[in-house]
Amino acid sequence: MPTAIITGSSAGIGKATTLKLLNAGWRVHGFTRQLDGATHANYIPHQVDVTNESAVQNAVAAILSKEQSIDLLINNAGAASMNALLLTPGSIAENLMRVNYLGAFYCIQAVGKQMVRQRQGRIINITTVAVPLALEGEAAYVASKAALDALTRVAAKELSPHGIVVAGLGFGPIPTQLTRAVNAAKLAELNQLIGRTNGTTVDEAADFIFEAIQQKNLEAGSIRYLGKI
Ligand SMILES: NC(=O)c1ccc[n+]([C@@H]2O[C@H](COP(=O)([O-])OP(=O)(O)OC[C@H]3O[C@@H](n4cnc5c(N)ncnc54)[C@H](OP(=O)(O)O)[C@@H]3O)[C@@H](O)[C@H]2O)c1
Repeated sequence: MPTAIITGSSAGIGKATTLKLLNAGWRVHGFTRQLDGATHANYIPHQVDVTNESAVQNAVAAILSKEQSIDLLINNAGAASMNALLLTPGSIAENLMRVNYLGAFYCIQAVGKQMVRQRQGRIINITTVAVPLALEGEAAYVASKAALDALTRVAAKELSPHGIVVAGLGFGPIPTQLTRAVNAAKLAELNQLIGRTNGTTVDEAADFIFEAIQQKNLEAGSIRYLGKI
């Protein structure tokens, strides 16, 4: 049975993607700070804050004591904050960098070592159109996701020789907890800009991720978007 780790599996895009993988016969280990009540024979939730390096390492070690391999890692856990640059508290900028960039860094290190031993694996980092659009009002979020995108490209080069494909998949606005505080007009404007006038649902985002996994059409180092960029 193919095995995946998905961070942020309890809500939004991560939850919808987890369901698609479970329905397709994958075993999914989910990392979240709060355990969700989801039950499925092949879903194993782990209480892990991805910003805690030793918690990530311990969880991956516990998984490997039971699993032969980890075939897929999706770094999806994320946080966002909409603030004018000059009014963004430093603590918020630091937290976004820790969750969106450093969390993925820790997970790639812990899982990547196993994938090197296996000589195969795929790593998908979830990103945003806000980076190529250099979206104003989201400087700290954009910078943290830009760091993640840079990590995607370097990781792809370092890990490709070991049979590991690393790529990014990105989205425009999707109605989840993450975007609940964003002004509706601003979201509509952004959707217009990327040619998705009806917006994007969580399910469409999960389909985009799932299809990339099913079709094995992830190109190492690429960052593809659901929408026109
Ligand atoms: N929604 C959008 O418009 C949009 C657009 C483009 C890209 N994205 C990206 O897509 C990803 C998912 O976003 P979403 O909208 O689905 O978010 P969401 O609904 O807010 O869900 C976030 C998930 O991440 C988990 N999480 C947050 N911080 C964590 C941490 N430190 N350690 C472990 N798990 C953590 C949450 O669970 P706990 O709270 O229990 O930890 C939850 O399961 C993010 O990376 C986001 O940047 C979203």
